[in-house]
Amino acid sequence: MPATGAKPIGAEDEAGAAQAVRQMFDSIAPKYDLLNHVLSANVDRLWWWRAARRFRPILANPDAAILDICCGTGDMTMALLKHRPAGSRPILAGDFARGMLSRGALKFGGPGVGAREPGKSYAVALEADALHLPLKSASLDLIVSAFGFRNLANYEAGLREFARVLKPGGQLGILEFSEPGGLMGKAYAVYFRRVLPAIGRIICGKDGPYSYLPVSVGNFPPPAKMLQLMRTTGYEACAWQPYTFGIAGLYTAKREAIA
Ligand SMILES: C[S@@+](CC[C@H](N)C(=O)[O-])C[C@H]1O[C@@H](n2cnc3c(N)ncnc32)[C@H](O)[C@@H]1O
Repeated sequence: MPATGAKPIGAEDEAGAAQAVRQMFDSIAPKYDLLNHVLSANVDRLWWWRAARRFRPILANPDAAILDICCGTGDMTMALLKHRPAGSRPILAGDFARGMLSRGALKFGGPGVGAREPGKSYAVALEADALHLPLKSASLDLIVSAFGFRNLANYEAGLREFARVLKPGGQLGILEFSEPGGLMGKAYAVYFRRVLPAIGRIICGKDGPYSYLPVSVGNFPPPAKMLQLMRTTGYEACAWQPYTFGIAGLYTAKREAIA
């Protein structure tokens, strides 16, 4: 299976895929948080927390330049902020769906620059496409992406764009769903492919987005293939840590020191 990118139904090329993904997330933005927590029984909180904890040494550096891309409504960003010392350089929280990003900004942006508490750290919203980041090359110490990378129209181009903006030795963390094997995997597949889209349809009031979720996870490269892709796009020390029986997992890597 070639590792290309997300293919929402009806999208004919990468531009069409990106547009369909953006419209889909904008359309579910008002119900996104509720659906997330219901459908994952709040385990999503544990995944964001674990992923953030993995990057504690970088987060503890107040000058570190950090991007949470595909930040959506900002829960990964909030988990990262818990490890930032007071008054740190703000985290950049990027997404191309304005409806998602504006909800995130209400959580991570705080009360506005003049009214900010000195003991807290904040993030700033960046409306941006992950495949064309408006950031200088070799400018970031850490990029994190939670449940967003799978939606990119081109995985290889996404990894190359992240490698461009990371400093040599900078770190990457991609939290994504996976398909567990064995008996557990079979049981989970029934939930993920049948029950979850049905609940999503009821809460969301439409069919598309939560039918797209299991399809997109099925189309996403499995860990061995994703790690191989990372190694060929400018990363070293590539690893995958399964979470919760492999339902999700964290890919980690370092930007190669020599291009
Ligand atoms: C499933 S949500 C994840 C949101 C959040 N990170 C979380 O863990 O809840 C995926 C997000 O990725 C964003 N996204 C998908 N493709 C993108 C792209 N090319 N550039 C920027 N954001 C993108 C979507 O707009 C959406 O907000």
